[in-house]
Amino acid sequence: MDALYPVAAFCASLALPALSKKLLATPKPSPPHPLSTIGSLYSAAFLELTAPLYDQHMGCENMGPLLYTLIRFLKPRRVLEVGAGLTSVYLAAAMADNTKEEETFAKKRADRTVNIEGVEWTTDSFFSPASPLPKPELHVVDNMEHESTTAHLVHEAAAKLGAGDVIKVHVSDCYEDSGSYLAEGAMYDFIWLDGISSDDRFLDLVRVYWKERLNKGGYLAVHSTLTNTLSKGWMRQIEKEREAEKGRVEVDFEIAVYDHEEQDLAALGGRIAGGAVEIGGVRWSAGAVRTVTGEYGARKAVVTASCEGWGEEGGVDDVTACEILQEALDDEVQSVRVAGVREGGAWGDMHVVGFGEPHKRYQNSFTVWQKRGGYSEPVYSWSP
Ligand SMILES: C[S@@+](CC[C@H](N)C(=O)[O-])C[C@H]1O[C@@H](n2cnc3c(N)ncnc32)[C@H](O)[C@@H]1O
Repeated sequence: MDALYPVAAFCASLALPALSKKLLATPKPSPPHPLSTIGSLYSAAFLELTAPLYDQHMGCENMGPLLYTLIRFLKPRRVLEVGAGLTSVYLAAAMADNTKEEETFAKKRADRTVNIEGVEWTTDSFFSPASPLPKPELHVVDNMEHESTTAHLVHEAAAKLGAGDVIKVHVSDCYEDSGSYLAEGAMYDFIWLDGISSDDRFLDLVRVYWKERLNKGGYLAVHSTLTNTLSKGWMRQIEKEREAEKGRVEVDFEIAVYDHEEQDLAALGGRIAGGAVEIGGVRWSAGAVRTVTGEYGARKAVVTASCEGWGEEGGVDDVTACEILQEALDDEVQSVRVAGVREGGAWGDMHVVGFGEPHKRYQNSFTVWQKRGGYSEPVYSWSP
């Protein structure tokens, strides 16, 4: 196909637009082929196919390339975009290019040709053959109701650019139909929200995405955040809530009962979650109780309860907590275990930064939150 490019250019110069258009519609990267990618972003076809997806109301002319680069950099496995259009195609191109790049490096690793002075250049965790990373998936959600939306065009454009496999378009309302576009338990590494934040339910939706759908170390990015009153309002509310939840921890207690016994596990769990049991001088605030069947058919309840100051100096350790709990529950239980401790509240530890385009009045900014909550990067080398 490479050989067709001079022909396409020639046709264009002879003012044969239909033929040159047809020939240009095949993704053709300009040489050299950049970083083992499929390279569609660097092709004339990319510009041609994405031109109809740009709308000035959406203001994503710089967001698209920026998101492309972020996705190339971060290599997320699952991305969720709500509010589709031009950016969807950049995201899809980035994910398809990542796959190509990863395949190239995996092969070089196998051939032992990707090292610097004998030291492997790529990381074992990313390329482990024992636990291969899942294939990248981009889930794009749009209700197609905005009068200027170009969301209906994204799948076809991505497919023509060779990135059709990574993108799944959900025609859904993000506030009404979460069940249809969020697969049960699906977690994401990057969530990009564009054009849905003027709804009163936006902050509730963000809380759910943040707490229940975003992996630790993952990113939430929202468009148009810095220069309008509405966004300043909900962002300030997040800060207020974070301030209020400082020092709170959430603990999962796993309580098991003998399978032949008749205890009502939910009621047992409810006594902790409802604050009826005091551990280390604190009453735990109401939380959730989930019952599961454990090994050998033993029944278990996982009780999530929260309090302030758990594990701080002088606080109660896991063993003592379990002893107190067991006693408080009148030995009706087989065992108690602290199954997990994390920061309490909706938000936890986060990094946040906003970026603004000073030359524009609308759609001129985005803010990124990274979910930390105990996440830390590995150390690979002594010096940078
Ligand atoms: C600002 S535009 C997105 C721009 C897009 N990212 C781009 O690059 O062109 C917002 C989009 O969100 C969609 N939308 C608005 N409310 C929605 C909702 N409740 N659920 C799903 N999509 C919604 C609109 O149809 C519109 O396509």
